[in-house]
Amino acid sequence: MSSGKFLETLAGRRFATPPVWLMRQAGRYLPEYRAVRATTRSFLEFCYTPDKAVEVTLQPIRRFGFDAAIIFSDILVVPDALGQKVWFEEGEGPKLEALTDPAQFARLSRARLADHLAPVYEAIRQTRAALPRETALLGFAGAPFTLACYMIEGSGSRDFAKVKKWAYGHPESFGLLIDLLVESVVDHLSNQVEAGVDGVQLFDSWAGVLPEEQLFRWSLDPMVRIATGLRERHPNVPVLAFPRAVGPAALMYRRPDSFNALSLDTGIGAHWAAKELQPHICVQGNLDPIMLVAGGAALEREARRILDKLGHGSFIFNLGHGVVPQTPPEHVAQLVEIVRTWKPGEP
Ligand code: CP3
Repeated sequence: MSSGKFLETLAGRRFATPPVWLMRQAGRYLPEYRAVRATTRSFLEFCYTPDKAVEVTLQPIRRFGFDAAIIFSDILVVPDALGQKVWFEEGEGPKLEALTDPAQFARLSRARLADHLAPVYEAIRQTRAALPRETALLGFAGAPFTLACYMIEGSGSRDFAKVKKWAYGHPESFGLLIDLLVESVVDHLSNQVEAGVDGVQLFDSWAGVLPEEQLFRWSLDPMVRIATGLRERHPNVPVLAFPRAVGPAALMYRRPDSFNALSLDTGIGAHWAAKELQPHICVQGNLDPIMLVAGGAALEREARRILDKLGHGSFIFNLGHGVVPQTPPEHVAQLVEIVRTWKPGEP
């Protein structure tokens, strides 16, 4: 068990400055990550090698002393564990043997999930043992809609036309895939909690491609069902939700009964979030990752603006999306310093 600023903030306590961690804090912007990454050709094999996953999870903690670590893995380990073919192409991102027909669902099975993902759980056990007690360890999973996007498109996409056509045209069969993913994600998160994570984040990175009327059914409701299912097994585990690019529909996700915090992307105004979301739920976010590339006075101004708007309430400092590879590590150190020396009430 761990305690510390991150978990205590989720439990409602306030500190002089908010906890801070960054999505994709372990990644190619760190030379020490690239050195470990270079020892394995396949990205999934890298994810499934516990000593390497443990090492790269710890790297940003050693360098920057973040309040939370996130286990090094990927959201696409779930389709891989279900039996879909997944691989990563250098410079192109993820590729999957796309599902084109509901009949192919029959080939996917939850039965092998725990065995297939055992190396992830082993990495969690070792990371938790190596981390300082006050540093929280987060597990994570992709939310069902975002996983379905990759599983049906077979890669990232400009318009997500295939997955949307399936969801709109054949909602019953799309619903079966979503149901399988809800159950699989509950299993995966529950296994991560049993291995030692202190909280979990659900990434719905592509929620924003859905029109608002479809968001409840395909994004929010599956995430709520996951939170409920997970809490049946682990009643007190914190769940953070990241429905990316949903705009003012973020209001729908203001569900403190299901989520302990709502992670905000760059498009959400800090002022609006302070008024509409924060009185009801802890918020996390939402600095533009490119501000971290810019650095200097621009970074300082923008980080302070967010702190001034959100730092007075229940808040976790983070980015609005992941750290990008071209980020200078010195700018990350500068950001942590800005957050940790912020004084409420400064202009
Ligand atoms: O530090 C951390 O945040 C933990 C590790 C983590 C990774 N992926 C490692 C990774 C996490 C939390 C993820 C989540 C993830 N993966 C998401 C949701 C968050 C988001 O970004 O919206 C998504 C959509 C994926 C799928 C995925 N994995 C993509 C699109 C890519 C390619 C992007 C790229 O930069 O090439 C990956 C690969 C990946 N996952 C990398 C890392 C560090 C880069 C690959 C490498 O190092 O070779």
